[in-house]
Formats: sequence, C-alpha cells, structure tokens
Amino acid sequence: IILIAPTNGASFLKKRDQEKKVRYDNYSVFRIKYETSLQRQSLLELTNIKQSFKLWRDDNSECNLMVAPSAMPLFEERLRTVNVTAEMFIENVQDLIDHENEADTRADATFGWTRYYNLAEIDAWLDTMLAAYPDVTSGFVLGQSYEGRDIRGLLISYKWGNPGVFIESNIHAREWITSATATWLINELLTSKDELVRELAESHDWYIVPVLNVDVFVYTHETDRLWRKTRQPSRISDCVGVDPNRNYDSHWMENGGASSNPCDETYAGPQPFSEPEIKAMSDFVSILKDKINVMLAFHSYSQLLLSPYGHTAEEFPENYADLMQVAKAYSDAVHQLPYGTIYKYGSSAGILYPASGATNDWAYNEQDIKISYTIEFRDTGNFGFVLPAAFIKPNAEETLIGIMALLAESKKLG
Ligand code: ARG
Ligand code: ZN
Repeated sequence: IILIAPTNGASFLKKRDQEKKVRYDNYSVFRIKYETSLQRQSLLELTNIKQSFKLWRDDNSECNLMVAPSAMPLFEERLRTVNVTAEMFIENVQDLIDHENEADTRADATFGWTRYYNLAEIDAWLDTMLAAYPDVTSGFVLGQSYEGRDIRGLLISYKWGNPGVFIESNIHAREWITSATATWLINELLTSKDELVRELAESHDWYIVPVLNVDVFVYTHETDRLWRKTRQPSRISDCVGVDPNRNYDSHWMENGGASSNPCDETYAGPQPFSEPEIKAMSDFVSILKDKINVMLAFHSYSQLLLSPYGHTAEEFPENYADLMQVAKAYSDAVHQLPYGTIYKYGSSAGILYPASGATNDWAYNEQDIKISYTIEFRDTGNFGFVLPAAFIKPNAEETLIGIMALLAESKKLG
C-alpha cells in the first residue's frame, strides 16, 4: 500500500492578506415552512442578495434563512407577499459564534472534544496518535490543497484487507461538527476498551480524512465562520469558491443539481474536479477502491442519512432496498440511545433536493462502492452550523453507534 508520509506542504503557503474577520452581529436565522413551490421560489430568490441573505438549509418543506439586520424590512415584506410565516430560532448569529466553544475556553486544553480545534491542533493530535499506535495506524496524504496544504488522513488497520470504510469529513468548511466527530471516532477506534467497539475497530480498515477542505477550514477559523465552498477564485466572476460537493465527476451539473453561477453556494465549478482537493480525493480512492466497501461523507446539519442518487429523483440505485434497510438500522440504533435523536433517511434527491456531483454519488457510480451515504449530523435547526461544543460528544457517540449498526446490517446483505 502506498502511504505517503506527510510533507510540510503548508510551509510554502501564500500568506493570506490580512482579511478582516467577518462578523454576524444581529444576523438572525429563521425557519420557514412553505406549502407551494412558488412560495419557496420567491423566498429563495432573496438569497441572490448575497450580503443580506444566506441559505442555511433547504428541504422539501422548509428552509432556514439567515437574514442581515438591514434586510429585515425586505424580508418581512416578502413573507407578507407570499403569505408564509417565519419562526426565528437564532436571534444573533454572532452571539452564538462567540459562545460555541464555551464548554472549554482554555486555549491550551488537551484534545478532549470539549471545544472545536483548529487545523494545526488536529494535525498535531493526528501525529500524537500515529506515534502512540504505530502498529495499527498509518498516516496518508490525499494530495495538496489549492493553497498548498497537505490533506491528511489516517488509516487504522488491525488486519490489512479487512472490509474498508472511508470517511470523508469537512468537505464543507463551516460544518465543524464533522471533523470533531471524525477525530472522536479515531480516538474511540484506537483507545476504547468496550468489546463491541474493539470488534468494530479491528474488523475493518478505516480510512479517515477529518478535514478535506483544509484551506477553508482554516479560513472559517480565521476569517469567516460560515464559509461553505472552496476559496479558489473564479476566472469569470469576482465571487470566490466552488461547492466541492458538486465538483465530483459524476453526473456533473445534471438536472439542475448544481449551479453554473460562481456566486452561488452550489456552484459546481468550471469543470469537474476543478478543485484540487476533490481531484486528490478521487485519485486516492480510485487506487484503493477495491479495498473500500463503505463510503460515508460527513455533513451538517438536518439529521439525515442520504443514499444515492442525488442527480435524479426519478431513478434509484439497483440496491436501493438494501441501502434503505441499512439506513434504517443506523437510524433505529441512534434513536434507541438516551438522546433519542431522530435521523430520517432516503435518497438525496428524493428527500432533500437534486444535488449532482456529490461524494456519495461519485463513490457509488464511479468507484463501485455500493454502500455509500451522506450523513447530515445534528441538529435540525436550533443552532445549525454553529452547534455548541457541548454537543460534540453526544453527536459523536450516536454516530459511532449508528455506524456500528450500519456495518452490522450491511454484513447481512448477500
Ligand atoms: N447538504 C449536502 C449538500 O448540499 C447534501 C448533499 C446530499 N446530496 C447528495 N447527492 N449526496 O451538499
Ligand atoms: Zn455539507
């Protein structure tokens, strides 16, 4: 196996201009339930006013919209016009951002999942784990990001050749709960004394990439907490960044599952694999695909388990029944925990919206990885992307239990 030692890619990083930290003082987030597609359309239209509106969630029946204080009159007028009501669930986004790490404000606190860690802290922790468990871990590098950082991963293998599980996390930079959960899982797989976790850890090969969108993960820590896309500039627009989860070369840009407008949050890029992070992911997985049985792409938020397809709601994968049976096992297992968290499941396009060129579809269609999901973590919209650090452990615990059930159920399939 070709596992490359981490190089010091970050040392030749261009120094980013001292950008001012983006603030969200008195920005509010609303939950809006609509009944007609016309209502939906005319609300989503507001997101064309980039400085004033940002879409947080878009479902079949509701959307969550962040509204700048200056745009409140326009927002209220629009609600009246289309005759829908909006329920505010975050009054002041900046306030939430300022407090999301309150569970542990000590800057030097050891890695304990009581706050969100930055990329340097995650990298240092990965090195610690590699050093502590040299017999069963290998570090790997998918490749380099646009700004030249190494995209790192960790392979945990107790018996090389076990069924492989690939975890892609933090492709969307602002979804911090995903890398917090991925690192927690690594820790459990290596250190847990629980018999069931040991069995789980030792009977699979785990390829875990805690932070895929490395540049922008740094950017969300330093500059804009709510950036989703990449940061590669566009040749045709002043707008920056591509939605990496629309950039895979699989039914790319089909059926309105992505945008061709560089200013949109779901811009698919000038061509498939235009983003080096996504190309790197693809090159790496292509080589190993025979060893990988399960692909899990971590996202937040909405509490969903999404199977292929994303590019069409008209067709379903040939093993769709199996995928639903396995998803049900995940959902049931999570629901049985004391937290009682509810995960809905279905195909991406079926229960969410058309989304083409996403990880789980590409893994399924192009890499022949037939157990392939996008998992949208907590919550359903009380905190959204700015989930307080106190929820890291509950979210991670139920993810572990869910994955355990998912793998057990998929083993039962013929
Ligand atoms: N929230 C995710 C996104 O917009 C969900 C994508 C799920 N769709 C899919 N085809 N996997 O990227
Ligand atoms: Zn996402």
